[in-house]
Amino acid sequence: MAKILVTGGMGFIGSHTVVELLEKEYEVLILDNLYNSDKKILHNIHQITGKMPQFIQLDLLDEQGLDTFFSQNTDIQAVIHFAALKAVGESVRLPLKYYKNNLDSLIHILEMMLKYEIANLVFSSSCTVYGQPDSLPVTEQSPIKKAESPYGNTKQIGEEIIADTVQAYPQLRAISLRYFNPIGAHKSGLLGELPQGIPNNLMPFITQTAIGLRDNLKVYGGDYDTLDGTCVRDYIHVSDLAKAHVIATERLLAQKNATNLEYFNLGTGKGNTVLEVIQSFEKTTQQKLKYEIVHRRPGDVVKIYADTAAANQVLGWHTEKNLDDMTASAWQWEVNYRKQQAE
Ligand code: WQD
Repeated sequence: MAKILVTGGMGFIGSHTVVELLEKEYEVLILDNLYNSDKKILHNIHQITGKMPQFIQLDLLDEQGLDTFFSQNTDIQAVIHFAALKAVGESVRLPLKYYKNNLDSLIHILEMMLKYEIANLVFSSSCTVYGQPDSLPVTEQSPIKKAESPYGNTKQIGEEIIADTVQAYPQLRAISLRYFNPIGAHKSGLLGELPQGIPNNLMPFITQTAIGLRDNLKVYGGDYDTLDGTCVRDYIHVSDLAKAHVIATERLLAQKNATNLEYFNLGTGKGNTVLEVIQSFEKTTQQKLKYEIVHRRPGDVVKIYADTAAANQVLGWHTEKNLDDMTASAWQWEVNYRKQQAE
Protein backbone atom coordinates (compact mmCIF):
# COMPACT_ATOMS: atom_id res chain seq x y z
CA MET A 1 0.00 0.00 0.00
CA ALA A 2 1.05 3.59 -0.56
CA LYS A 3 3.45 5.33 1.81
CA ILE A 4 1.91 8.47 3.29
CA LEU A 5 3.82 11.23 5.11
CA VAL A 6 1.88 12.90 7.91
CA THR A 7 3.51 16.08 9.19
CA GLY A 8 2.30 16.96 12.68
CA GLY A 9 1.12 13.37 12.97
CA MET A 10 1.58 13.35 16.73
CA GLY A 11 -0.91 16.16 17.19
CA PHE A 12 -4.64 16.05 17.90
CA ILE A 13 -6.05 15.64 14.38
CA GLY A 14 -2.81 14.22 12.98
CA SER A 15 -2.69 11.27 15.39
CA HIS A 16 -6.32 10.39 14.73
CA THR A 17 -5.61 10.50 10.99
CA VAL A 18 -2.56 8.24 11.43
CA VAL A 19 -4.82 5.68 13.14
CA GLU A 20 -7.32 5.77 10.27
CA LEU A 21 -4.51 5.40 7.69
CA LEU A 22 -2.93 2.45 9.52
CA GLU A 23 -6.31 0.76 9.82
CA LYS A 24 -6.61 1.01 6.04
CA GLU A 25 -3.20 -0.67 5.71
CA TYR A 26 -1.29 2.41 4.53
CA GLU A 27 2.37 2.72 5.45
CA VAL A 28 2.69 5.88 7.54
CA LEU A 29 5.66 8.16 8.23
CA ILE A 30 5.26 10.86 10.86
CA LEU A 31 7.32 14.03 10.99
CA ASP A 32 6.73 16.00 14.17
CA ASN A 33 8.87 18.30 16.34
CA LEU A 34 6.84 17.31 19.44
CA TYR A 35 6.33 21.02 20.25
CA ASN A 36 2.71 20.34 21.12
CA SER A 37 2.71 16.59 21.65
CA ASP A 38 4.15 13.67 23.57
CA LYS A 39 6.08 10.65 22.28
CA LYS A 40 3.73 8.43 24.32
CA ILE A 41 1.18 8.97 21.55
CA LEU A 42 3.15 6.49 19.40
CA HIS A 43 2.58 3.78 21.98
CA ASN A 44 -1.13 4.56 22.06
CA ILE A 45 -1.36 4.46 18.25
CA HIS A 46 0.30 1.05 18.37
CA GLN A 47 -2.12 -0.09 21.10
CA ILE A 48 -5.10 0.93 18.98
CA THR A 49 -3.95 -0.39 15.61
CA GLY A 50 -1.34 -3.06 16.40
CA LYS A 51 0.92 -1.20 13.98
CA MET A 52 3.79 1.19 14.61
CA PRO A 53 4.19 4.13 12.22
CA GLN A 54 7.73 5.30 11.54
CA PHE A 55 8.30 8.50 13.58
CA ILE A 56 11.05 11.04 12.92
CA GLN A 57 11.36 13.97 15.31
CA LEU A 58 12.12 16.88 12.99
CA ASP A 59 11.22 20.55 12.74
CA LEU A 60 9.99 21.51 9.27
CA LEU A 61 12.04 24.71 9.59
CA ASP A 62 15.19 22.52 9.47
CA GLU A 63 15.66 22.57 5.70
CA GLN A 64 18.79 20.42 5.73
CA GLY A 65 17.15 17.83 7.94
CA LEU A 66 14.07 17.85 5.76
CA ASP A 67 16.07 17.33 2.56
CA THR A 68 17.95 14.43 4.12
CA PHE A 69 14.64 12.88 5.22
CA PHE A 70 13.08 13.16 1.77
CA SER A 71 16.24 11.88 0.03
CA GLN A 72 15.97 8.77 2.20
CA ASN A 73 12.23 8.32 1.57
CA THR A 74 11.77 8.77 -2.16
CA ASP A 75 8.75 6.42 -2.23
CA ILE A 76 6.35 8.75 -0.39
CA GLN A 77 3.20 9.03 -2.51
CA ALA A 78 1.23 11.65 -0.60
CA VAL A 79 1.73 14.25 2.13
CA ILE A 80 -0.91 15.24 4.69
CA HIS A 81 0.36 18.50 6.15
CA PHE A 82 -0.91 19.22 9.66
CA ALA A 83 2.22 20.62 11.29
CA ALA A 84 1.47 24.20 12.38
CA LEU A 85 1.01 26.36 15.45
CA LYS A 86 -2.71 26.79 16.10
CA ALA A 87 -3.42 28.84 19.22
CA VAL A 88 -5.46 31.83 18.06
CA GLY A 89 -4.72 33.96 21.15
CA GLU A 90 -0.99 33.21 21.10
CA SER A 91 -0.83 34.14 17.41
CA VAL A 92 -2.06 37.65 18.27
CA ARG A 93 0.72 38.01 20.87
CA LEU A 94 3.43 36.37 18.69
CA PRO A 95 2.50 36.98 15.03
CA LEU A 96 6.02 36.58 13.60
CA LYS A 97 6.42 33.18 15.28
CA TYR A 98 3.19 32.08 13.59
CA TYR A 99 3.96 33.52 10.14
CA LYS A 100 7.47 32.07 10.19
CA ASN A 101 6.54 28.65 11.52
CA ASN A 102 3.32 28.02 9.62
CA LEU A 103 4.31 29.55 6.28
CA ASP A 104 7.99 28.57 6.10
CA SER A 105 7.06 24.99 7.04
CA LEU A 106 4.51 24.85 4.23
CA ILE A 107 6.97 26.34 1.73
CA HIS A 108 9.65 23.81 2.70
CA ILE A 109 7.18 20.93 2.25
CA LEU A 110 6.15 22.21 -1.17
CA GLU A 111 9.81 22.62 -2.22
CA MET A 112 10.54 19.06 -1.14
CA MET A 113 7.48 17.71 -2.97
CA LEU A 114 8.61 19.39 -6.17
CA LYS A 115 12.22 18.28 -5.76
CA TYR A 116 11.32 14.66 -4.98
CA GLU A 117 8.35 14.50 -7.37
CA ILE A 118 5.62 13.84 -4.81
CA ALA A 119 2.36 14.87 -6.44
CA ASN A 120 -0.31 14.66 -3.75
CA LEU A 121 -0.90 17.15 -0.92
CA VAL A 122 -3.73 17.34 1.61
CA PHE A 123 -3.60 20.64 3.52
CA SER A 124 -5.03 21.30 6.96
CA SER A 125 -7.01 24.51 6.64
CA SER A 126 -9.71 26.09 8.78
CA CYS A 127 -13.14 27.69 8.69
CA THR A 128 -11.44 30.79 10.08
CA VAL A 129 -10.80 31.72 6.44
CA TYR A 130 -14.49 32.71 6.28
CA GLY A 131 -14.35 35.15 9.20
CA GLN A 132 -17.89 36.22 10.18
CA PRO A 133 -19.91 34.94 7.21
CA ASP A 134 -22.57 37.16 5.59
CA SER A 135 -24.87 34.18 5.16
CA LEU A 136 -25.12 30.70 6.59
CA PRO A 137 -24.35 27.88 6.10
CA VAL A 138 -20.94 28.66 4.54
CA THR A 139 -20.07 26.94 1.28
CA GLU A 140 -16.60 26.61 -0.26
CA GLN A 141 -17.57 29.58 -2.46
CA SER A 142 -18.46 31.82 0.49
CA PRO A 143 -16.29 34.93 0.49
CA ILE A 144 -12.94 34.71 2.23
CA LYS A 145 -12.92 37.44 4.87
CA LYS A 146 -10.08 39.27 6.55
CA ALA A 147 -8.67 36.80 9.07
CA GLU A 148 -9.51 37.46 12.71
CA SER A 149 -6.00 36.47 13.83
CA PRO A 150 -2.48 35.85 12.52
CA TYR A 151 -3.23 32.12 12.97
CA GLY A 152 -6.26 32.37 10.68
CA ASN A 153 -4.20 34.49 8.28
CA THR A 154 -1.54 31.79 8.01
CA LYS A 155 -4.29 29.43 6.84
CA GLN A 156 -5.52 31.94 4.26
CA ILE A 157 -2.03 32.73 3.00
CA GLY A 158 -1.19 29.02 3.08
CA GLU A 159 -4.11 28.32 0.74
CA GLU A 160 -2.90 31.10 -1.57
CA ILE A 161 0.67 29.76 -1.58
CA ILE A 162 -0.67 26.32 -2.55
CA ALA A 163 -2.94 27.82 -5.24
CA ASP A 164 -0.04 29.69 -6.86
CA THR A 165 2.25 26.67 -6.59
CA VAL A 166 -0.14 24.18 -8.23
CA GLN A 167 -0.80 26.82 -10.90
CA ALA A 168 2.92 27.05 -11.65
CA TYR A 169 3.57 23.32 -11.28
CA PRO A 170 0.50 21.43 -12.55
CA GLN A 171 2.13 18.13 -11.71
CA LEU A 172 1.10 18.91 -8.11
CA ARG A 173 -2.42 18.02 -6.93
CA ALA A 174 -3.79 19.48 -3.68
CA ILE A 175 -6.91 19.36 -1.53
CA SER A 176 -7.44 21.97 1.18
CA LEU A 177 -9.68 20.78 4.01
CA ARG A 178 -11.41 23.57 5.93
CA TYR A 179 -12.17 22.26 9.43
CA PHE A 180 -14.89 23.66 11.57
CA ASN A 181 -14.47 22.93 15.27
CA PRO A 182 -12.80 19.56 15.89
CA ILE A 183 -13.57 18.13 19.35
CA GLY A 184 -13.92 14.73 20.98
CA ALA A 185 -11.48 11.81 21.04
CA HIS A 186 -10.87 8.34 19.68
CA LYS A 187 -13.36 5.75 20.97
CA SER A 188 -10.51 3.83 22.66
CA GLY A 189 -9.85 6.74 25.04
CA LEU A 190 -6.17 6.46 24.05
CA LEU A 191 -5.98 9.53 21.81
CA GLY A 192 -7.27 13.05 22.26
CA GLU A 193 -6.45 16.72 22.49
CA LEU A 194 -3.15 17.04 24.37
CA PRO A 195 -3.44 19.95 26.77
CA GLN A 196 -0.36 22.19 26.79
CA GLY A 197 -0.96 24.94 29.33
CA ILE A 198 -4.26 26.75 29.72
CA PRO A 199 -6.54 25.63 26.88
CA ASN A 200 -7.80 28.25 24.45
CA ASN A 201 -10.48 26.00 23.07
CA LEU A 202 -13.86 25.25 24.62
CA MET A 203 -13.86 21.45 24.88
CA PRO A 204 -10.53 20.96 26.69
CA PHE A 205 -11.47 23.79 29.05
CA ILE A 206 -14.75 22.02 29.85
CA THR A 207 -13.07 18.65 30.54
CA GLN A 208 -10.29 20.25 32.60
CA THR A 209 -12.88 22.13 34.66
CA ALA A 210 -14.86 18.92 35.23
CA ILE A 211 -11.74 17.03 36.32
CA GLY A 212 -10.86 19.81 38.77
CA LEU A 213 -7.85 21.34 36.99
CA ARG A 214 -9.71 24.64 36.38
CA ASP A 215 -12.03 26.35 38.86
CA ASN A 216 -14.76 27.13 36.39
CA LEU A 217 -15.45 27.66 32.72
CA LYS A 218 -15.91 31.23 31.53
CA VAL A 219 -18.54 31.37 28.80
CA TYR A 220 -17.50 34.29 26.60
CA GLY A 221 -20.64 36.30 25.95
CA GLY A 222 -24.28 35.53 26.69
CA ASP A 223 -25.89 38.41 24.81
CA TYR A 224 -25.37 37.44 21.18
CA ASP A 225 -28.29 37.22 18.77
CA THR A 226 -28.48 33.42 18.95
CA LEU A 227 -30.79 30.77 20.42
CA ASP A 228 -29.52 31.30 23.99
CA GLY A 229 -27.19 34.28 23.61
CA THR A 230 -23.97 32.25 23.29
CA CYS A 231 -21.90 31.75 20.13
CA VAL A 232 -22.71 29.07 17.57
CA ARG A 233 -20.09 26.73 16.09
CA ASP A 234 -20.13 23.58 13.94
CA TYR A 235 -18.49 21.02 16.24
CA ILE A 236 -17.19 17.95 14.45
CA HIS A 237 -15.87 14.72 15.95
CA VAL A 238 -12.13 14.39 15.37
CA SER A 239 -12.53 10.79 14.14
CA ASP A 240 -15.01 11.89 11.46
CA LEU A 241 -12.53 14.59 10.50
CA ALA A 242 -9.67 12.06 10.34
CA LYS A 243 -11.65 9.78 8.03
CA ALA A 244 -12.14 12.69 5.61
CA HIS A 245 -8.36 13.03 5.32
CA VAL A 246 -8.01 9.41 4.22
CA ILE A 247 -10.76 9.87 1.63
CA ALA A 248 -9.16 13.07 0.31
CA THR A 249 -5.75 11.36 0.09
CA GLU A 250 -7.26 8.42 -1.79
CA ARG A 251 -8.99 10.84 -4.19
CA LEU A 252 -5.60 12.30 -5.08
CA LEU A 253 -3.79 8.93 -5.25
CA ALA A 254 -6.46 7.73 -7.70
CA GLN A 255 -6.19 11.04 -9.58
CA LYS A 256 -9.96 11.49 -9.26
CA ASN A 257 -9.59 15.19 -8.42
CA ALA A 258 -11.49 17.44 -10.83
CA THR A 259 -8.88 20.20 -10.72
CA ASN A 260 -5.44 20.25 -9.17
CA LEU A 261 -6.69 22.32 -6.25
CA GLU A 262 -9.97 21.50 -4.48
CA TYR A 263 -11.46 22.85 -1.24
CA PHE A 264 -13.85 21.06 1.11
CA ASN A 265 -15.66 22.21 4.24
CA LEU A 266 -15.49 19.60 6.98
CA GLY A 267 -18.25 20.12 9.49
CA THR A 268 -21.51 18.46 10.45
CA GLY A 269 -23.65 21.15 8.82
CA LYS A 270 -25.23 21.75 12.24
CA GLY A 271 -24.55 24.64 14.61
CA ASN A 272 -24.58 24.35 18.40
CA THR A 273 -24.30 27.09 21.04
CA VAL A 274 -21.76 26.99 23.85
CA LEU A 275 -24.58 26.28 26.33
CA GLU A 276 -25.75 23.35 24.19
CA VAL A 277 -22.25 21.89 24.35
CA ILE A 278 -22.29 22.28 28.13
CA GLN A 279 -25.75 20.68 28.33
CA SER A 280 -24.54 17.75 26.22
CA PHE A 281 -21.45 17.35 28.42
CA GLU A 282 -23.54 17.36 31.61
CA LYS A 283 -25.91 14.81 30.11
CA THR A 284 -23.26 12.39 28.84
CA THR A 285 -21.06 12.60 31.93
CA GLN A 286 -23.83 13.05 34.51
CA GLN A 287 -21.78 15.89 36.00
CA LYS A 288 -22.73 19.45 36.80
CA LEU A 289 -20.23 21.81 35.18
CA LYS A 290 -19.21 24.97 37.01
CA TYR A 291 -19.40 27.90 34.60
CA GLU A 292 -20.22 31.59 34.48
CA ILE A 293 -21.22 33.76 31.58
CA VAL A 294 -18.79 36.68 31.26
CA HIS A 295 -17.75 39.33 28.72
CA ARG A 296 -17.45 38.53 25.03
CA ARG A 297 -14.06 37.33 23.71
CA PRO A 298 -12.60 39.78 21.14
CA GLY A 299 -12.38 38.27 17.65
CA ASP A 300 -15.08 35.68 18.23
CA VAL A 301 -17.33 34.99 15.27
CA VAL A 302 -20.98 34.99 16.46
CA LYS A 303 -22.28 32.15 14.36
CA ILE A 304 -20.78 29.80 11.80
CA TYR A 305 -21.60 26.37 10.51
CA ALA A 306 -20.82 24.49 7.32
CA ASP A 307 -22.64 23.62 4.14
CA THR A 308 -21.21 20.12 3.73
CA ALA A 309 -22.77 19.26 0.36
CA ALA A 310 -19.43 19.27 -1.49
CA ALA A 311 -17.70 16.88 0.93
CA ASN A 312 -20.82 14.69 1.08
CA GLN A 313 -21.41 14.51 -2.67
CA VAL A 314 -17.91 14.77 -4.14
CA LEU A 315 -15.89 12.96 -1.45
CA GLY A 316 -18.75 10.68 -0.45
CA TRP A 317 -17.91 11.55 3.17
CA HIS A 318 -20.51 11.89 5.92
CA THR A 319 -20.12 12.51 9.64
CA GLU A 320 -21.24 9.62 11.83
CA LYS A 321 -20.95 11.07 15.32
CA ASN A 322 -23.16 13.55 17.12
CA LEU A 323 -22.52 16.14 19.84
CA ASP A 324 -23.10 13.63 22.65
CA ASP A 325 -20.48 11.28 21.16
CA MET A 326 -18.08 14.23 21.10
CA THR A 327 -18.58 15.35 24.70
CA ALA A 328 -18.61 11.79 26.06
CA SER A 329 -15.39 10.84 24.24
CA ALA A 330 -13.66 14.08 25.23
CA TRP A 331 -14.40 13.31 28.87
CA GLN A 332 -13.23 9.67 28.56
CA TRP A 333 -9.92 10.94 27.13
CA GLU A 334 -9.49 13.52 29.90
CA VAL A 335 -9.99 10.84 32.57
CA ASN A 336 -7.66 8.34 30.85
CA TYR A 337 -5.00 10.97 30.15
CA ARG A 338 -4.87 12.09 33.78
CA LYS A 339 -4.68 8.45 34.89
CA GLN A 340 -1.82 7.82 32.42
CA GLN A 341 -0.02 10.92 33.74
CA ALA A 342 -0.43 9.79 37.36
CA GLU A 343 1.11 6.34 36.63
C1 WQD B 1 -15.55 28.02 20.54
C2 WQD B 1 -16.62 28.80 21.28
C3 WQD B 1 -15.82 30.79 22.37
C4 WQD B 1 -13.29 28.83 25.33
C5 WQD B 1 -10.66 28.13 17.11
C6 WQD B 1 -9.83 28.45 15.92
C7 WQD B 1 -10.11 27.47 14.82
C8 WQD B 1 -9.86 26.08 15.32
C9 WQD B 1 -10.78 25.82 16.50
C10 WQD B 1 -7.64 25.23 14.91
C11 WQD B 1 -16.49 30.30 21.10
C12 WQD B 1 -16.33 29.77 23.38
C13 WQD B 1 -14.15 29.04 24.27
C14 WQD B 1 -13.70 29.17 26.65
C15 WQD B 1 -15.80 29.89 25.77
N1 WQD B 1 -8.50 25.91 15.67
N2 WQD B 1 -15.38 29.56 24.50
N3 WQD B 1 -14.95 29.69 26.81
O1 WQD B 1 -12.49 30.14 18.45
O2 WQD B 1 -14.36 28.78 17.33
O3 WQD B 1 -12.00 28.31 16.78
O4 WQD B 1 -10.45 26.78 17.49
O5 WQD B 1 -7.84 24.74 13.84
O6 WQD B 1 -9.25 27.76 13.75
O7 WQD B 1 -10.18 29.74 15.48
O8 WQD B 1 -12.86 27.68 19.00
O9 WQD B 1 -13.04 26.42 21.10
O10 WQD B 1 -11.82 28.65 21.13
O11 WQD B 1 -14.30 28.62 20.89
O12 WQD B 1 -16.94 30.38 25.95
O13 WQD B 1 -12.97 29.02 27.65
O14 WQD B 1 -16.46 28.56 22.68
O15 WQD B 1 -16.20 32.10 22.75
O16 WQD B 1 -17.78 30.85 21.06
P1 WQD B 1 -13.00 28.85 17.92
P2 WQD B 1 -12.94 27.82 20.60
